[in-house]
Amino acid sequence: MAFVERRIAVVGTGYVGLVTGAVLAKVGHRVTCVDNDPAKVRILEAVKLPIYEPGLEALVEDVRTTGRLAFSGEIAPVVGAAEVVFICVGTPPLPSGKADLSYIEQVARDIARSLGTHYTVVVEKSTVPVHTGMRVKRTIERHAPAGARFDVASNPEFLAEGTAVRDALAPNRIVVGVDSERARVVMEGLYAPFACPLIVTGIESAEIIKHASNSFLALKISYINAVARICELAGADVVQVARGMGLDERIGPHFLRAGIGYGGSCFPKDVDAFGEIASELGYEFTLIREAQRINAEQRTRFIRKIEDALWVVKDKRVALWGLSFKPDTDDLREAPAMDIARWLLDHGAVVRAHDPVAMDKARVLLPKVDYGADPYAVCEGADALVLVTEWKTYIEADLGRVRAAMRHPILLDGRNVFDPAHVVALGFEYHGVGRGAVAGHDGVVRGPGRGR
Ligand code: UGA
Repeated sequence: MAFVERRIAVVGTGYVGLVTGAVLAKVGHRVTCVDNDPAKVRILEAVKLPIYEPGLEALVEDVRTTGRLAFSGEIAPVVGAAEVVFICVGTPPLPSGKADLSYIEQVARDIARSLGTHYTVVVEKSTVPVHTGMRVKRTIERHAPAGARFDVASNPEFLAEGTAVRDALAPNRIVVGVDSERARVVMEGLYAPFACPLIVTGIESAEIIKHASNSFLALKISYINAVARICELAGADVVQVARGMGLDERIGPHFLRAGIGYGGSCFPKDVDAFGEIASELGYEFTLIREAQRINAEQRTRFIRKIEDALWVVKDKRVALWGLSFKPDTDDLREAPAMDIARWLLDHGAVVRAHDPVAMDKARVLLPKVDYGADPYAVCEGADALVLVTEWKTYIEADLGRVRAAMRHPILLDGRNVFDPAHVVALGFEYHGVGRGAVAGHDGVVRGPGRGR
């Protein structure tokens, strides 16, 4: 299919909207990103991004100078002129676990009222439950002027935070769900510059691909975390076990890192939502409910490990390395570090934390934490160091220097990034996840650290 340059409207300038808009502009389309928050639009126009995402600012600046990307606070003229409209607004979780679709409905109404006289494809890009496309279509039909010509398509986004630009510029696959030949042709032309496979499905299948993919990845993480429990009980090392499993190409090495469990704005929300959708449709998806349970337990078990290592928590000085839910992002949503810091503060510990980019956001949420200028400063006089997020700077840190700065060299490695034998040789008492505790003060390397 040959490339066809399109006028595109992207409604919503969160992670997905911003990256989608910038990438589609980069490959040659004319894109306007719309947001109903005027302050946000002003910030974006000044090419200051409200989020930290490697490569995104440079990409936005690049496509802004070519004139292919614009921002606007007014939906009507932008949608009216567009041939393709992407819905990229949030679908936050409700207390029930279901996704809150009120923003989607509102935007569908706004789009309906703004449609031009030409044919338009309205694309749901936000992660939504199956059948949302059908409901978006009905909503637009109800509110659009008579004779409006449009189709609805589903085009789920698979980018991960921290690698969003790379994921969106070079995705593994593009999924397009359509119910008309005309929409299929538009979507194929739109994505012609991308080299990866483009899969065309029905709208419901595309919607399910997104939830089923995220839930499967979450399941994989919970599986290895459950195996980690067995490793602890058996005196094995889950890092070695995962390596041995992952070399089987049917299993694959990805998403087999045991640790404190998954966080972020996607997996916890999407797994809940998928469970709820299944239940509403009449199927109890207990398998993914169990994945959520294991994940929650992983976090509380790690906190118990910290408590066990410290014994009395009150007045102990604890250093935290990493606050964001994963490296290369400043996103604190469902970040394990937030729970750990809160628990420590509630139990009277003195918490000193460092994160390469998330400290400004964390200060607002946890003002009682003492934030340090660098990873070493927070370890001065510490009774324990807890690695929560596996930023490269921590993996490559000078642990000898850390050891010398600490009052008691207890290292709790929530992501299994350190080699137990190495850190024990440096004089640390080491606790990983699924690798047993390795004591250091008596110089004896016990459990799975032996013989590495
Ligand atoms: C995830 C998916 O990976 C994307 O494909 C998807 O588009 C996105 O959700 C979304 O729905 O918008 P994201 O949440 O940004 O992306 O980050 P991931 O890299 O998937 O990590 C999620 C969580 O799993 C993190 O807390 C990470 O620490 C944890 N994780 C990941 C593990 O605990 N172990 C692993 O082996 C891998």
